[in-house]
Amino acid sequence: MRIVETPEDLERTKLRDDATGFIAYVPTGSVARGEAKTEGCTVCHGPGLRGLGPVPALAGRSPSYMARQLYDFQTGVRNGAWSDLMDAEVEDLSLGDIVDIVAYTASLAP
Ligand code: HEC
Repeated sequence: MRIVETPEDLERTKLRDDATGFIAYVPTGSVARGEAKTEGCTVCHGPGLRGLGPVPALAGRSPSYMARQLYDFQTGVRNGAWSDLMDAEVEDLSLGDIVDIVAYTASLAP
């Protein structure tokens, strides 16, 4: 139950080129499970999870970053003005759920 994320181009990543992507190796079946677990997320995160107004996009973003944010919402470490809207979403997520969700969101076109 882990995701391995590596830069597409190490040299460009070292230069902090944010136009270069990443490759994420995810557990078998996690993308399909994640799709089912994110059906309710589009209400706030928009169609295709590409963001809606001030609510951030989830599509095509780094899975390790996304997992960290979900964990931080759950533990209360991330606690900004709008974070309460995520409380109910993360309350019952297991580590396996988080891996499935971020595997799916990372697979989407930004
Ligand atoms: C009721 C509205 C709402 C729903 C439903 C919702 N979110 Fe969010 N989400 C937000 C808001 C608002 C933020 C920004 C919070 C902040 O800035 O602290 C956010 C932030 C996030 C972030 C951090 C993004 C970043 O750029 O740091 C992730 C990851 C996330 N949501 C995942 C999910 C997932 C997965 C679901 C469904 C299981 C979900 N959200 C459902 C409102 C929602």
